[in-house]
Amino acid sequence: MSKSLQRIGVLTGGGDCPGLNAVIRAVAKTALQDGVEVMGVEDGYFGLIENRLLRLDWTHVSNILTLGGTILGSCNRSDPAAYSVPDGDGWVVKDVRDQVVAHYHQAGLDALVVIGGDGTMSGSVDLIDRGMHIVGVPKTIDNDLWATDVTFGHDTAVSTATDALDKIHTTASSHHRVMVVELMGRYAGWIALHAGIASGADIILIPEIPFDLQVVADRCQERSRHGKRFTIIAVGEGAKSIGGDVVVDRHVEGSPDPIRLGGVAAYLAHEIEERTSLECRHVVLGHVQRGGTPTAFDRVLATQFGHAAYELVRNNRFGRMVVQRGGQIDSVAMSDVANKIRTVPLDDPALLAARAVGTCFGAPRSSAH
Ligand code: F6P
Repeated sequence: MSKSLQRIGVLTGGGDCPGLNAVIRAVAKTALQDGVEVMGVEDGYFGLIENRLLRLDWTHVSNILTLGGTILGSCNRSDPAAYSVPDGDGWVVKDVRDQVVAHYHQAGLDALVVIGGDGTMSGSVDLIDRGMHIVGVPKTIDNDLWATDVTFGHDTAVSTATDALDKIHTTASSHHRVMVVELMGRYAGWIALHAGIASGADIILIPEIPFDLQVVADRCQERSRHGKRFTIIAVGEGAKSIGGDVVVDRHVEGSPDPIRLGGVAAYLAHEIEERTSLECRHVVLGHVQRGGTPTAFDRVLATQFGHAAYELVRNNRFGRMVVQRGGQIDSVAMSDVANKIRTVPLDDPALLAARAVGTCFGAPRSSAH
């Protein structure tokens, strides 16, 4: 262990996800057992911008393994390079990276564990260049972080989405309807793919495979002709038609990625009804996918990630992010991860299996997709 290691910080940045508390617990308990003090930074990088930290002892991190959300609070608008502060009717953007570095030293931190997604990792790289000792832990329900096979939170989100799709199934069947269910995931279709397969969705639409509306409508009609009087469509929020664009719900001022997707399910339901005369309904599952108790899988992964992050700190391996690859815990340089996303490859084994059992992905029949 490094002689100088006395106090570390931990923060959760970006959108929350199930398993964050399990990581905080693992980082803190491993450090405390090692005689190292732990400071919790509140609300992502806001806590270091605004100097809001609290000392975590055993009582803070006991009994939180199964708790959803994050005891530290989080924020997806706290990029220190572009800190937005309200200014009259609008916002002004400030670079407060030096302030973050100053507060980090003022708090006596020897290292900082950041648990976050792409935005948090990218923002941390600049701070590493300014001398902060940072290690990363990848989190997102979207499962789209580069270099790791899996992020904790995804399994729980898929489980929640699958449960919802199973429930939609019975009402779709009773009313002989086409039900379009919109799932999160931004520009990667992992949640829609995995929950769609798990629930036996008839059609799965993901950003990686632009869809042909007529192919989708024809599949619904075909099912109806063959006596299947309902259709379940699982659609990722970032799915788009061939030559079309993603459906944007809103812009969030001050966010590193200001675009919030939403509305593709409503669009599909309307278009399919127009083309087929089948009765359609749509459901947007939304933030319920980010909530709740983490699954056993996510608790185990989060515990491994938290422990591995502390080991990186203990061994002075700063600037690295914990990953899981081929079932093994490893690490990569955070700078390699920044500003990249991991989408569903077209030869993904789960995708190929879904195709093989007849799931429609909305691509034209002539297409290689
Ligand atoms: O990245 C996680 C995620 O939940 C996406 O799946 C979703 O598009 C986005 O965050 C929603 O962000 P917000 O919490 O700002 O609405």
